[in-house]
Amino acid sequence: MRSTSSLLSLLPALVGAIAPPTLDGLKLLWHDGFEGAAGSPPSDKWNIALSVNTNNELQTYSVSNQNIQISGGETMQLVPRKSRSGHWTSGRIETKDSWTPPPGGKLLIQSSLLLGNNAPGNQQGIWPAFWALGDAMRHGTQWPLAGELDIMERVSGSEVAYGTTHCGEFPGGVCNEPTGRGSTVPLPADGFHTWALQIDVTNPDWRAQSIQWMLDGKTWRTLTGADIGVEGTWSTLAHSPLYVLVNVAVGGDWPGNPNDSTMDGYGSMMELQYVAVYST
Ligand SMILES: *[C@@H]1O[C@H](CO)[C@@H](O)[C@H](O)[C@H]1NC(C)=O
Repeated sequence: MRSTSSLLSLLPALVGAIAPPTLDGLKLLWHDGFEGAAGSPPSDKWNIALSVNTNNELQTYSVSNQNIQISGGETMQLVPRKSRSGHWTSGRIETKDSWTPPPGGKLLIQSSLLLGNNAPGNQQGIWPAFWALGDAMRHGTQWPLAGELDIMERVSGSEVAYGTTHCGEFPGGVCNEPTGRGSTVPLPADGFHTWALQIDVTNPDWRAQSIQWMLDGKTWRTLTGADIGVEGTWSTLAHSPLYVLVNVAVGGDWPGNPNDSTMDGYGSMMELQYVAVYST
């Protein structure tokens, strides 16, 4: 299945453009619908030239359109690739902007995305993620103090997606680092699905404020201020600026490394129709 020479743009666009939907009580603050010519890079709303070395991951993040490209069908594709010598490259983008839940209101981060349909046994080590990090990470605060909210992750072809919170001290702390606090939801059938995170700080009592993880509009996990229990830590998660990331990592501490059955290419990709940020 590996094709190191063909252009990504040979993959036909299978779906029409899907714009961020209108959501009750929320206004669209920002979005990218990934319009553009096949093979072109994501828009300048994103940082894409990233040198990231975390979790003992194997991949080098690349700006090549073998790894990251606008599809031409108003989607963006992040595609892990393995070279003849066995080196993995992949794609990662991060929003330049960051957003803070408005006092007394809500912030919602959403994407419609598809995960490659290689069989689970052929995705050992493949780790797609749609997530948010505290902007303080960009200003010297160490992980996980700055806060991390993982909206959707899949590891090694798992049959579930993970939604995890990282916060507070390392190791241990209220988020039980480095594991974090999380739960799982069964992965829906192949195809595009809507994954979202809503931070709801409408209640003046911080203990009653909440963060909700949603799949296709249904909440599958809720974390409250009371669950975190420390007001300052809650504040780093629910009252601080966040930026949004999407990437496909390969290998590392959590999924373990790829094996001889792991396949690269579209079947192990993540493809996005849009990323959108809303608030009250
Ligand atoms: C690779 O790992 C997967 C589990 O993620 C397993 O199903 C498969 O048999 C393994 N293949 C090899 C060659 O070890």
